[in-house]
Amino acid sequence: MQIKIARDYQEMSKLAADIIADFIKAKPSGVLGLATGSTPLGLYEELVERHQEGLDFSKVTTFNLDEYYGLHAEHPASYHYYMHEHLFKHLNVPKERINIPDGANTDAASECRSYEDKITAAGGIDLQILGIGTNGHIGFNEPGAPFGGTTSLVNLALATIEANSRFFDKPEDVPRQAISMGIKSIMNSRKIVLLANGESKADAIARAVEGPVTEGLPASVLQLHPDCTFILDQQAAKKLTHSRR
Ligand code: PGA
Repeated sequence: MQIKIARDYQEMSKLAADIIADFIKAKPSGVLGLATGSTPLGLYEELVERHQEGLDFSKVTTFNLDEYYGLHAEHPASYHYYMHEHLFKHLNVPKERINIPDGANTDAASECRSYEDKITAAGGIDLQILGIGTNGHIGFNEPGAPFGGTTSLVNLALATIEANSRFFDKPEDVPRQAISMGIKSIMNSRKIVLLANGESKADAIARAVEGPVTEGLPASVLQLHPDCTFILDQQAAKKLTHSRR
């Protein structure tokens, strides 16, 4: 695991955008795994700028990590909506190459199976972007999620419901379930870049990087990945031992 510590959020976002841009230039038909939340917003702004400067996404395929279960794509708090607003409406990724789990599919089991099949059919994910929850979750794989898990319908942890209530009118409106790629689906990606900023992530980052590898802290599994980079701002890195900083 490689650790890069950026001066601030903007530099973190630029470093991540550099990795994605270099990857797309090297492999124009590459498969990207994408995340939502506040963390990657700066990265997406950077990617939009780079597209305006000529970076071509016309052959790229994307897979998002997760979607709330029970929300339609048009719901303003859905991850379909988020991705469209913050990224896809500004880029030239063809619609048929954009993949996000369908949270409105009443047959969740079949949605999960077909999502996993689509990842396999695309040749697997080349470069997966991740955020991290304050409880160490990756995607919506909450503490206790099995390391062998593939895409499935999962229950959200209380900490996640509370953290994400800022995106909804009322805390009761936050869905209690989501469809999420599993830990195994994530670990199968050929390269992983995890972004974290802010003091609220410092504990989870220290445990993910320096603690034991345990299902109790899902991101700790990344210690076992052969090509994983954490890009952190100073605040998120502040509980790492000094030798890492
Ligand atoms: P955040 O969420 O980027 O909104 O902090 C990250 C996550 O929960 O994975």
